[in-house]
Amino acid sequence: MNIGDEYEVIVEKLTNLGYGLAKIDNFVVFVEGACPQDKLKIKIIKKNKNYANAKIIKIIQPSKNRTEPFCPMQKVCGACQIQYIQYDYQLKLKQQIVKETISKIGGFDINIPLPVPSPQIKNYRHKIQYPVTQTKNSKRIIAGYYKPSSHELVNIKYCPIQPKICDDIIEYIKENAPKYNITGYTENNNSGDLKHIVIRVSSFNQENLVTLVVNSKKPSEKFIKFGNAIFNEFDSVCGVCINYNSAKTNVIMGNKTDCICGKDHITEEILGKKFIVGPQTFFQVNPKSAENIFSYVKEYIKSHFKEPLILDAYAGISAFGICVSDIAQKVVTIEENPQSVELAQKSIEINNINNLEIHNADAGEYFSNEKRKFDVIILDPPRKGCSEQSLNEAIRLGKSTIIYVSCNPSTLARDLKYLRQKGCQVESIQPFDMFCHTYHIENVAIIKLPE
Ligand SMILES: C[S@@+](CC[C@H](N)C(=O)[O-])C[C@H]1O[C@@H](n2cnc3c(N)ncnc32)[C@H](O)[C@@H]1O
Repeated sequence: MNIGDEYEVIVEKLTNLGYGLAKIDNFVVFVEGACPQDKLKIKIIKKNKNYANAKIIKIIQPSKNRTEPFCPMQKVCGACQIQYIQYDYQLKLKQQIVKETISKIGGFDINIPLPVPSPQIKNYRHKIQYPVTQTKNSKRIIAGYYKPSSHELVNIKYCPIQPKICDDIIEYIKENAPKYNITGYTENNNSGDLKHIVIRVSSFNQENLVTLVVNSKKPSEKFIKFGNAIFNEFDSVCGVCINYNSAKTNVIMGNKTDCICGKDHITEEILGKKFIVGPQTFFQVNPKSAENIFSYVKEYIKSHFKEPLILDAYAGISAFGICVSDIAQKVVTIEENPQSVELAQKSIEINNINNLEIHNADAGEYFSNEKRKFDVIILDPPRKGCSEQSLNEAIRLGKSTIIYVSCNPSTLARDLKYLRQKGCQVESIQPFDMFCHTYHIENVAIIKLPE
């Protein structure tokens, strides 16, 4: 097999990274934009020792589960990798992916139910982060998502995954920034002003918080004037912030953010509790789907424990802790980001909660200094999962149950394997579709500790 060779294949399945998997004489080929059961003509574009990558030349016979993507930009934009697959079938594929990942990496088999669907499959994304640049010759500002596996920006005018107001705000910024002498960022030589536009939209009251990430270390008059113009243009914009990030880095935001007009936060609501969400704090991007997860976790705790002592680690703004506080004797939350901890404190106050104890610490370090035993431990780590030290400590601190909320099936499977080696039992895994039309999937695993 050589680069440029063409073949006819039938796609066998979807991989955990959203590629179609086909085999040519038992050699694995990953095909972008393919759906299981598609009959395709493909061209090899890359070849490694164990696998090749191919692109579709022609769909000879489409799978019955294909559909026309509702976004005209789907093929060029890297954000919704599998929007061309019918939503119900996306859920089945994600179910299979979780099952296979647990089996392959975790080394055990367990029944995986269908993912709980997202209540909204359009306009669900409430945090938007667009990289910004400018065109070479006309210096026109463009913003959008990168093409798949590249840093080539697709200028997006309309994205049906986010609330419509975001399109309007972004178009306004692109058109008007030059009037304030603000240029788009050029990655190659780390030049230009505007690097990212970040918008948070409250699903509770539809307020928007706009953050301009700028290639600067300090405030300047032009950003302040432009920020005020954005604030005055849109009634629903409740605040505009400037984040300073002059480093040549893939990290979107720098450490320092100034609110230049209005409020520095939006308010969200989950399970009747209010949350203060800032420009740099973690909050679930699909709040309606998140509500299903929070409800599932709360119901599990309520039906198995009476007034438990709960530990909520990797807590962000203590969202789980606050949601379960009214069925708990006490909740202890741990989060390493000081801004999240500060906002958690404010959320505790507005919800009149008096049985929540917050710690600003690394989870592993905090665990090793803790002596209390907890009825329930909630772990909701970032994509990289938990360290072995954290898992060991969670076993030591837990009386009976760990609820592990994960946005990455591979690291969940790895961590479950470790916990099982330490004598834990995985009672159940329930997927939730938080990120429709992408290959991402969230899971909640219920783990029983050794007696
Ligand atoms: C997936 S988010 C979950 C947040 C929260 N549970 C929620 O649902 O909103 C993971 C959180 O873990 C925090 N984090 C990452 N590494 C950590 C560590 N070693 N110790 C404590 N917190 C950490 C991040 O700052 C982030 O807020």
